[in-house]
Amino acid sequence: MNYQEIIVSRKQEFGSRLAILGHHYQSDSIINYVDHVGDSLELARTIGQLDAEHIVFCGVWFMAESAAILKREGQKIHTPEPNATCTMAEMAQAMTVRKVLKILRGTGRNIIPLTYVNSTAGVKAVVGEMGGAVCTSANARTMLSWAMDQGDGVLFLPDKHLAYNTGSAIGIPVAKRILVDIVNPTDDDDATLFMWPGYCPVHDMYIDADVARARRDDPDALIVVHPECPASVVEAVDANGSTAFIIDYVAEAPDGTTIYVGTESNLVNRLAKEYAGRKTIKHLDAGYCEDMAKVTVEKLGDLLSRLETAVPVETEQSIVIPARLALQRMLDACA
Ligand code: 13P
Ligand code: SF4
Repeated sequence: MNYQEIIVSRKQEFGSRLAILGHHYQSDSIINYVDHVGDSLELARTIGQLDAEHIVFCGVWFMAESAAILKREGQKIHTPEPNATCTMAEMAQAMTVRKVLKILRGTGRNIIPLTYVNSTAGVKAVVGEMGGAVCTSANARTMLSWAMDQGDGVLFLPDKHLAYNTGSAIGIPVAKRILVDIVNPTDDDDATLFMWPGYCPVHDMYIDADVARARRDDPDALIVVHPECPASVVEAVDANGSTAFIIDYVAEAPDGTTIYVGTESNLVNRLAKEYAGRKTIKHLDAGYCEDMAKVTVEKLGDLLSRLETAVPVETEQSIVIPARLALQRMLDACA
């Protein structure tokens, strides 16, 4: 049997005892086999609703790790490639987050940490312990407003672009937002939004010239990007939002529209295929997430072939409890 046949046969054999989840940035070769496809928020919400004993998460490590934190007793979370780490998530380490937060709170101000779901479980645990929460790109505005209401300011991590763009969206003055120097942090009584200096290498590469070129080539076209893109790009385009938002934006555009999409190329290619002949979907620029691409059909087939004995994703209990608190605060605030 080849790997494709193994996947089909093991899915039949396990039936409802197995659920395969996949992020929108996975390749079509994986998406063909998933039971639930979604953005980070949709997939996190799905975990609590699944009855399957085995949940296979096709995405990057922090997504499988978050699923393992949210899973119910008796469920097992697996991932075909545990080494598919998210480059942005690795830009914030738990010890540094704790140290920076302590310094920002040095003058007695209650600075609330808000971590993007693209972060390690250790970072989520520090955030949960310090009264903060998780957010995704789909609910960043709601969660930043929530965090602002809990204290005197917010430390948003790890993505500086999502922090800045979300600050703009909810009207935090530019003068109140500062990029944190994580090597020599200093508190700043005037700032209310402290932005960690992380970024996504896939989205950080979009530049103003990409927008200018699209406007010049197709003056009637719409442009939509992910909010992990730099602020100057986000401010120059027609709309920005999570992967689920981008999918809806394309769906709602009238037939005949040309839409440039600035996000990971697997999703853009899928949209182009889906709307071929009705709408023209173009890459604002092409960029693949190398980490997402580490999940392959071979690795999925291999995992399914030995699922009964595969070691599930587990996180230390001392991390699970505060990290779950941070995730649960998000799910409750956005229920
Ligand atoms: P979403 O929150 O849109 O799923 O994006 C996750 C991600 O990794 C974007 O780079
Ligand atoms: Fe991480 Fe960027 Fe890849 Fe998303 S696209 S998983 S943020 S590296």
